[in-house]
Amino acid sequence: MKNLIPHLNPAQQSATAFACSNIALCKYWGKRDSKLNLPINSSLSISLADKGATATIKLISAAQDQYAINNKSIPADSSHFLRLKNYFDLFRVTGFSFELEINLTIPLAAGLASSAAIFAAIAKALDKLFAWQLDNKNLSILARFGSGSAARSIEEGFVEWRRGEHEDGLDSFAEKIDCAWPDFRVGLCLLTSEAKKISSRAGMQSTVETSILYQAWPAQVAHDLPLIKQAIHNHDFELLGKTAENNALAMHATMLASQPPLLYSTPETIQLMQKIWRLRSEGLKIYFTQDAGPNLKLLFLKSELAQVQECFANIEIVVPFKGN
Ligand code: PMV
Repeated sequence: MKNLIPHLNPAQQSATAFACSNIALCKYWGKRDSKLNLPINSSLSISLADKGATATIKLISAAQDQYAINNKSIPADSSHFLRLKNYFDLFRVTGFSFELEINLTIPLAAGLASSAAIFAAIAKALDKLFAWQLDNKNLSILARFGSGSAARSIEEGFVEWRRGEHEDGLDSFAEKIDCAWPDFRVGLCLLTSEAKKISSRAGMQSTVETSILYQAWPAQVAHDLPLIKQAIHNHDFELLGKTAENNALAMHATMLASQPPLLYSTPETIQLMQKIWRLRSEGLKIYFTQDAGPNLKLLFLKSELAQVQECFANIEIVVPFKGN
């Protein structure tokens, strides 16, 4: 941390910042260092524009930190509180505690990358509070300490997080891919907004330690990542969709082979997958991806919008690139 932040002298009493959520098209699953949140594999995502988190951080003279999400205070004995406190402990200022207010435009912890947006927004707000003026590379590293995927929530558009090689993690950060795709759409299919039962942190650890299929995962990523980048640069939607969908299903296959088995899908998830495959066989150009929760995210182009809205009643459409 010392190599990253210049000082711990606050420049103001309070600061606010927004960070977008992101959805991985090539997933991050498995840590090589769980303290520094260093991933086993590189990953690639699409940021969700105005879907994300706004964090307001204040320095208060209370005995203990106070955190709230969407105006609801987080109990001091909960795992959410502990996770946030562990993060804030990295930036303690003598004589002060932190007050944190988070406002989300996405459901909390239902596999819609809320933790990515939250930790990226906190990192940006801390940067303002202390007037560090970090660049996006260092903000990405700072966000990564809170949640791995938060490293990808500093930038907009398509973003690649290279795993890096160094033990200190200073070369493990995310960068924007300089390629806009204005017609690209993401549809959020919210089957449930219930919080997931197994955190991605616990799920990753169990998969890495117990799933024999995990051995194949780095090779899957080595195959998929260049194809997804090629698809983005050529605006080849079919290549992007089929590679991203297969990547997500392969990740879930590694989880299912864990002991005990890890299954984030519900019967509704499977029904939705089957509906998507049926519609695709009938000619609709639509693919999905799935994270550590039962909800699916649809991937499609603007040209399919009317049909997608007709086939899926309750989806929220995200336009990742502005001005379209
Ligand atoms: O950053 P975490 O610890 O919430 O893990 C994210 C894991 C996935 O969402 C399943 C994959 C990804 O790359 O975002």
